[in-house]
Amino acid sequence: MIRTQVGIVGAGPAGLLLSHLLSLEGIESVIVESQSRAHIEERVRAGVLEQGTVDLLNEAGVGDRMRRQGLVHHGIELRFGRRGHRIDFQELVGRAITVYAQHEVVKDLVHARFTAGGQIFFEADSVSIHGFDGDDPRIRFRHAGEQRELACHYIAGCDGFRGICRPSVPAGALRFYEKVYPFGWLGILAEAKPASDELIYANHECGFALMSMRTPGISRLYLQCRPDEDLAEWPDSRIWEELQRRFQTAEGFRLNEGPIFQKGVTAMRSFVTEPMQYGRLFLAGDAAHIVPPTGAKGLNLAAADVRILSRALAWRFCTGSDERLRRYSEICLRRVWRAQHFSWWMTSLMHRFNQDSGFDHRRQLAELDQVTSSRAAATVLAENYTGLPFQLPGEEL
Ligand code: FAD
Ligand code: DHB
Repeated sequence: MIRTQVGIVGAGPAGLLLSHLLSLEGIESVIVESQSRAHIEERVRAGVLEQGTVDLLNEAGVGDRMRRQGLVHHGIELRFGRRGHRIDFQELVGRAITVYAQHEVVKDLVHARFTAGGQIFFEADSVSIHGFDGDDPRIRFRHAGEQRELACHYIAGCDGFRGICRPSVPAGALRFYEKVYPFGWLGILAEAKPASDELIYANHECGFALMSMRTPGISRLYLQCRPDEDLAEWPDSRIWEELQRRFQTAEGFRLNEGPIFQKGVTAMRSFVTEPMQYGRLFLAGDAAHIVPPTGAKGLNLAAADVRILSRALAWRFCTGSDERLRRYSEICLRRVWRAQHFSWWMTSLMHRFNQDSGFDHRRQLAELDQVTSSRAAATVLAENYTGLPFQLPGEEL
């Protein structure tokens, strides 16, 4: 039997950052993760960090590599009707975003946990949670062939959308809100110099496309596809042809092409769990909510959740009062629904919808025209994209 203060399921950004923030508050935690360390350190996911997430990582002392290798962007381009339109974040809201891969954040956090003597059980099997409706929460799992049990005061369910924590709550105790989109993203990494210094979000009759990057020599590109798209039907030549079509401009813009070394398809959904807590189980990150990736909010929401949770737990262990823990869900959900709205809006603005008679596309072009010509409309985009302030009015945690 192992004892700790907070038992954490999942070593994604939410679980790792929570464990790190708790240790800075002098609170012990143990993480149980089903995958190997190599797997989580190489899993290709998000790339855009809001200013607030960057500040949080810096303040927590895990921002060294991010500061050296992250690419700071002061705007993005919206491309439609074969023309580009820049949204200048710096000028509109005085903020920036940083392009730094999620798996690099994960590497930095794993390194920080081990350096501080933290404990992470990788490759744990048959993970289950118990006793969180009372005052004796436990996490059971098999590790290196042995049955283990972790006794803790609280459990943090940071095990992503397909984890076991949320489904362990008795039926009917939580409410779920969900929207599934009739499309997905085919994403690639390519050894190719990004054709532009900033991200390009393209609305094209054939579907959405996004140009992002990882380093000055590696492009990260996405194109809208079917949610169950078969990658076997997408040889590299077809991917480049389709991407070139969707990014084309009147001036003859061309993406730089190069060897593709990673390909994947992501289905898209919006999903929220209410509340994000049951007894002594607290859900954080993708375990509690999913956004479609168009607004680049998922990782940033996970960071915002665990910032609130770490403070509420610190308050509980320091003062004995669970008053802040009781407000955890309500405080997180306000930001979550704001991010849900923004992600849904960006998705609806940029993607091609099935059975569009042409009306939806023209409606999108009219809205894009507004976003790129009205300072008020552009400011709303800039404010949401670069991230809401950590402290929304009325939040004292
Ligand atoms: P996860 O990263 O899913 O971590 C959960 C962890 O729990 C995993 O390590 C998993 O192995 C582990 N686990 C699962 N089940 C169990 C179990 N039973 N027992 C133990 N461990 C378990 N977000 C952004 O902010 N910006 C972006 O630019 C962006 N782009 C994206 C692009 C793509 C293609 C995708 C797929 C996502 C993107 N996101 C983006 C979303 C972002 O990647 C997620 O929101 C983020 O990973 C959430 O972190 P998390 O720690 O909550 O969950
Ligand atoms: C990336 C992913 C996103 O979802 C997004 O909106 C912007 C960039 C990326 O992986 O770089």
